[in-house]
Amino acid sequence: MARTETAPASEVLVIGGGIIGLGVAWRTAQRGLSVTVVDPAHGGGAVQVAAGMLAPVTELQYGEEPLLRLGMASNERYSAFTAELSAFTGLDTGYRQTGTLAVALDSDDREELRELHGFHQRLGLDSHWLTGRECRKLEPMLAPGVRGGLHVTDDHQVDGRRLAAALVEGCPRAGVRLVRASVAELLVTGGRASGVRLADGSELAADKIVLAAGPHSHRLPGLPEGVLPAIRPVKGQILRLRIPEPYRPFLSRNVRAVVRGQHIYLVPRANGELVIGATSEEQGYDTTVTAGGVYELLRDAHELVPGLTELPLVETSAGLRPGSPDNAPLLGPTALPGLVAATGHYRNGVLLTPVTADLLAEYLATGEVPALAAPFTPSRFTTKAAA
Ligand code: GLY
Repeated sequence: MARTETAPASEVLVIGGGIIGLGVAWRTAQRGLSVTVVDPAHGGGAVQVAAGMLAPVTELQYGEEPLLRLGMASNERYSAFTAELSAFTGLDTGYRQTGTLAVALDSDDREELRELHGFHQRLGLDSHWLTGRECRKLEPMLAPGVRGGLHVTDDHQVDGRRLAAALVEGCPRAGVRLVRASVAELLVTGGRASGVRLADGSELAADKIVLAAGPHSHRLPGLPEGVLPAIRPVKGQILRLRIPEPYRPFLSRNVRAVVRGQHIYLVPRANGELVIGATSEEQGYDTTVTAGGVYELLRDAHELVPGLTELPLVETSAGLRPGSPDNAPLLGPTALPGLVAATGHYRNGVLLTPVTADLLAEYLATGEVPALAAPFTPSRFTTKAAA
């Protein structure tokens, strides 16, 4: 028979223990609130696949200036966030200030990159135009055909798996309770989110529930219709190569390009790992690694850096980015009282972890939505059913 006992209530209950949920929990516990995070495998999710490129400028799309501001605010916090987490846990997160070089392989790409440079300049961003020769001087392994590029000195990197491990260690040290379980249902009492029922039938109650379940957020049983839009899963396949000692550094910074309309990026880590990403596929919740995905990544990466075919290929994997209808995150209170969103981070989950953690902790501690979070209110999608 199912158990129905109710565990002692927390002030905050987070559904989803990926880095967004854990980051919010860590910062919220630091504000003195009691916090519980429910997940079958804390520290999992898209971060286990992500390359960890922190690229608010080189991933900027036209018309996404509010997202740029949020991304830059998070990038600026990264150094202090990871230093504090490392000092607290004794674990390194692999945060590295490398900068990023975005290059063009033909004259069409070069024109596009030049336009992007103009856009960067109009926004006052730190982005420098380099000739092909200057690009190869910075990164000698680049293909001889590189036609020019943008050097963005503030787009860095972190090792997502190490960051997740540090948050899994840091949360309990800060007083967060990690409950290893699946959530079966959101409980709503008197028109207010009041807790969750777990798969084993037991219940957890809380004053505030934070929904941080990535592309599964809107599928939570018990969630009233219209409170959250569909968060679509966008599959990314990624490769991990190893750079043997005699070949290092091989690359000294993140390198990216658009090849045949697809974004390709190479992230070299201090430990000799070289991550190559990523496909972008919208076909549901499937995470199969396909021959076609691996082929396209290797083909495009090889055009950019021909010498990489010599390197050992050590891992292929696929994950799901949580894409909201406008590709920007949902941060803050929803139309259902007591339910707070921290989801929909799409291509920017790793980048946006520190700022999401700070903004949500501020809201949970004070009840005030910080100005930086205001453009990302979930109410921009609220339908009549939920209002
Ligand atoms: N931010 C890189 C990606 O989502 O592929």
